[in-house]
Amino acid sequence: MQLKASIAALVAAQVATAQELMRFGCSQLTIDRIDPLVNPGSLPSPHMHQLIGGNSLNVSMAPVDYDPPTKSTCTSCTYSEDFSNYWTANVYFKARNGSYKLVPQMTNLGLGVKGGMTIYYIRGYQPSAKVTAFPPGFRMLVGDPNNREASKVPSGLCFRCEVNKQQNPFGGAPCTGSDTKSFPASTCGGGWRVTVTFPSCWDGVNVDTPDHKSHIAYPASGSFESGGPCPASHPVKIPQVMYEIMYDTTPFNNKAEWPQDGSQPFYWSHGDNTGYGIHGDYLFGWKGDALQRAMDGKCAGDRCAPLKRQSDADAIACTKQQSAKEDIGTNTWLATIPGQEL
Ligand SMILES: *[C@@H]1O[C@H](CO)[C@@H](O)[C@H](O)[C@H]1NC(C)=O
Ligand SMILES: *[C@@H]1O[C@H](CO)[C@@H](O)[C@H](O)[C@H]1NC(C)=O
Repeated sequence: MQLKASIAALVAAQVATAQELMRFGCSQLTIDRIDPLVNPGSLPSPHMHQLIGGNSLNVSMAPVDYDPPTKSTCTSCTYSEDFSNYWTANVYFKARNGSYKLVPQMTNLGLGVKGGMTIYYIRGYQPSAKVTAFPPGFRMLVGDPNNREASKVPSGLCFRCEVNKQQNPFGGAPCTGSDTKSFPASTCGGGWRVTVTFPSCWDGVNVDTPDHKSHIAYPASGSFESGGPCPASHPVKIPQVMYEIMYDTTPFNNKAEWPQDGSQPFYWSHGDNTGYGIHGDYLFGWKGDALQRAMDGKCAGDRCAPLKRQSDADAIACTKQQSAKEDIGTNTWLATIPGQEL
C-alpha cells in the first residue's frame, strides 16, 4: 500500500514539474578517444567517450577563445542553437574468454535513432526563481573515473536496470527506488538507463577550475528539486543539467558468458567494472543568449517558442569522424578496451 502511494506521488510530482524541464534528444556525434576538458591536446586521450552536440568538438577547446557556436557548422541536438558538447564513457562487455565488445545503445525515443543521449536543463520547482544561463567558456565535470567507492558517487548519478524495452517515462524519478550506484548486478531485460546529473550552483566568477568542479556546488540544504538555496560560496542558481543514456545490454544476457566467480562482466571504457567511476563532462556552447531565453521563457520538452529547433533528420545528419583512429569493438571482439591494460 505504502509503496503504491509513494509511486503515485512520484508520478504526480513528475507531471507537475513537466513544464519546468527542457528535455531533448541529441544523436551521436562520434565515439572517440578525446577529452577536450580533462585531457586537452591528448590524442588519444586515456579513455574513450561518446560525444554529442556541436561539430566544432576538437581535441583542444580553450575556454572562451574557442567559441563552439562560431566554429560549429551543425549540432546533433534538436535545439539548433545548442552547440554545447556533452560526453560520457562507453560500456564494454567482457566475455569468459577475456575478449571485449562495445555495448550498443538503445534507440533514443526522441530521435528514433540508436545512440546519443537525452539532455535535460531543469529550472527546478520554483517558477519565480531566477536561473542564470552559463557564460561562454563555461565547462564542468561530475563524478570521477578513478573512483571505486559507492559513497563517493555524487547523488544524481545512477543506473537503472530496466525490466523491459518500453523506456517508461513514468518509471519514477532517477536515482530512486532500486536504482544503483554500481553497475546492475544481474541481467536486465530492457538494458540500463544511466543518469548523470550536475550540481546546480555556481561561484558566479570562474568558467572553469583546475579540477573542473570547484566552481560548482550542490544546494546548501535540501535539494535542487525542493528549491534548496545555493551556498554563499556558490550563490548563483544555474540550470541543472542532466544526461540520460540508454545502453542495450540485452545482447549480453546469456549468463553462460558471465564470469564463473560471479564478478561483474561490464566495464566502463576507463577499465572500471564497479560502475562507481560514472562521470560526465559538459562544455557550454549555446549561441548568444539562447539558453537564458529558454530559462526565462520556462521552456519545456523539445519544442519551445523562444528557441529554434531543427528537424530530427538534420540533428542525426550531424556527425564527426573519429580523431583517434582505432577499432572500438562495435562489431568485433577486442583483446583489450582501447587505451586500457586489463
Ligand atoms: C581541430 O584541431 C585541429 C588540430 O589541432 C585543427 O587542424 C582543426 O582545424 C581543428 N578543427 C576546428 C573545427 O577548429
Ligand atoms: C570470445 O567469446 C566471444 C563470445 O562468446 C566469441 O564471439 C569470440 O569469438 C571469442 N573470441 C575468441 C578469440 O575466442
